[in-house]
Amino acid sequence: MKKIILLPLLVWGLACADDANQTKQTQTMSNLVSAMATIQKGMMYNDQSIVAKGVEEIKLNTKDISSFDIKNENGSSFKAKQYSATQALAIAKLSDDILIAFRKENRNRVLDTYRRMQNQCMTCHALIRKW
Ligand code: HEC
Repeated sequence: MKKIILLPLLVWGLACADDANQTKQTQTMSNLVSAMATIQKGMMYNDQSIVAKGVEEIKLNTKDISSFDIKNENGSSFKAKQYSATQALAIAKLSDDILIAFRKENRNRVLDTYRRMQNQCMTCHALIRKW
C-alpha cells in the first residue's frame, strides 16, 4: 500500500526537480540575452558605462552556465559539464575583451568580439537543439 503512494510522489518529485532546473537555465539565458542587448545599447549610445554594465551581467550569468549538464545526442562521449565550463570562461573572456576594445575606441574590434560572443552562444544552442 505504502509503495503505491510513494512511487507517484517520487516520480512527481523528480519531475519538479527537472522543471526547477529548466527554469533556472531559462532565467540565466534570459539574463544573458538582455546583457547582450545592454552591451549593444552601450555601443549605439557610445557610452562606456552601459557597455561595462552589460559585461558585468554577462560575467555574473556565465558563472551559472558552467553548472549546466546539457544533454545531446552524442551521449556519454560528449563531456557536457566540461564543455559548459569552457564555454562559460570563453564568453566571460570575450565580454572583457569587448570592454577593453571599447576603452581603446577600437570599434571594429568591439563589433568583431561581440559577433564572436554571439557565435559562442549559438554554437551551444546548435549542439543541444540542433538549430
Ligand atoms: C553551454 C551551453 C550554452 C551556452 C554557451 C549558451 N546557452 Fe543559451 N541555452 C542553453 C540551454 C541549455 C538552454 C535551454 C535550452 C532548451 O531546452 O531549449 C538555452 C536557452 C537560451 C535561450 C532561450 C530561453 C528560453 O526562454 O527558452 C536564450 C534567449 C539563450 N539561451 C541565450 C543565450 C545567450 C545570449 C548566450 C551567450 C551569451 C547563451 N545562451 C549561451 C545553453 C547555453
